[in-house]
Amino acid sequence: MAEPAIQSEKSVSQLRCIGCGRTALADRFRCEHCRDLLEIIYPGWEEQGPGGHDATSLKQLWRDRRSSLDPADQSGVWRFREILPDISQPQVITIREGNTPVYELPHCARSAGMQQLLAKHQGMNPTGSFKDTGMTVAASFARQAGYRWVACASTGNTSASMAAYAARGGLHSLVLIPEGRISWSKLSQSLDYGAITCQLKADFDGCVRVLNEVVERMPVYLLNSVNPYRVEGQKTAAFELLEQLAWEPPDHIIVPGGNLANSSAMGKALREMKQLGFISRQPKVSVIQAEGANPLVRTIRENGGEKLIPVHADTMATAIRIGNPASWKKALRVIRETGGTVEQVSEVEIAMAKAEIGAEGIGCEPASAVTLAGLKKLVKQGFVKPSEMVVLVLTGHALKDADFTLKFHRGDLFTGTLHEAESARLKPLQRSPLVLEPSVDAVVELLRSAEN
Ligand code: F0G
Repeated sequence: MAEPAIQSEKSVSQLRCIGCGRTALADRFRCEHCRDLLEIIYPGWEEQGPGGHDATSLKQLWRDRRSSLDPADQSGVWRFREILPDISQPQVITIREGNTPVYELPHCARSAGMQQLLAKHQGMNPTGSFKDTGMTVAASFARQAGYRWVACASTGNTSASMAAYAARGGLHSLVLIPEGRISWSKLSQSLDYGAITCQLKADFDGCVRVLNEVVERMPVYLLNSVNPYRVEGQKTAAFELLEQLAWEPPDHIIVPGGNLANSSAMGKALREMKQLGFISRQPKVSVIQAEGANPLVRTIRENGGEKLIPVHADTMATAIRIGNPASWKKALRVIRETGGTVEQVSEVEIAMAKAEIGAEGIGCEPASAVTLAGLKKLVKQGFVKPSEMVVLVLTGHALKDADFTLKFHRGDLFTGTLHEAESARLKPLQRSPLVLEPSVDAVVELLRSAEN
């Protein structure tokens, strides 16, 4: 990759334990003293600013890069490289991730009781989910560190993303996924991109347990979201969002919660933006979980966030079918620091919200739709005011789970489940495919009846 046209000083980064605060730790994923997760800090920022710049000059520099032909500048992650760990340019693996749109959702706004509603669609990344923004940084770091193998346990999107970045970077990849519990599209992606793909007879949490031991025994680099380099890349989505809003912070950012790295990354970005003078106040970050996979909701409601309450997770939103989230402490800190909250939503509420986002011509996968379903509840509770500015983070593309969408529209998504009776209220949103004779009259007749 060519050297960037505009040079900045290097951002020297350090690992710090989120529990005991120790720095100078070995490059692993948990503190060797207290076993907490690690985060990346940039000691030079306080004196010199990132890469030797202040907020005003970085805003200009990042905007100028939008017209550059350099691959790193065309990436919506590496365009912000001053706030990322230093990785030498030839090691950077980019598929031009980031650069995702912010859409208005006027109908969803009305349905939630809001005057206006925005969605940052991270599903518009190269492999169809927000994972690409973190993967480009962590996979590049793996290559720079000399690893030949990378691995992850996944509910489908991390594996699709990791497989793609490994392939682009000439690395081998190993994927562990729960058998029968991820969507076909996600499984097909990791096969297509050449990962060794193992379906374990376990849930996501079981896959994580196996992988954690595998990486202890083999020279394989772990690309799950406990990897702090993933979080750094995912952070750029919040910088990009604020840039798209002309650096005017919204009142609320609403994020789906699974393993809880994305909410942690958004919060870390907002904290840094505030410290560096990009914004004057932080939006409230709220995390929404599925009722059947609600460990953070339970932890906050039942013990005030003292100790994680793991659950046996079950939801049709398979991306967030996670009972023992690794990054719960980081997410908790973000919720507390920004004044956000947690909420949980039912399977039928998720299906309805997903159909409403689809009907706006946007669409998303089920896990992303928890944000709209959660917002409706937060508005009813008065936590979100109708005149406030809310941004939903849509994490995955509609095509990630076409099976869910087809079943929804055919009306059999909830057949034989406990939610069958409640799902009757989804009827007005269902559009089952029609079968007609190949006759002009039949189609014209159909159009006439549709107009009435
Ligand atoms: N939305 C989607 C579409 C996801 O794929 C995930 C997580 C989340 C939300 C939750 O994000 O874990 O950072 O809280 N998917 C992971 C995976 C776990 O393996 O693809 P989180």
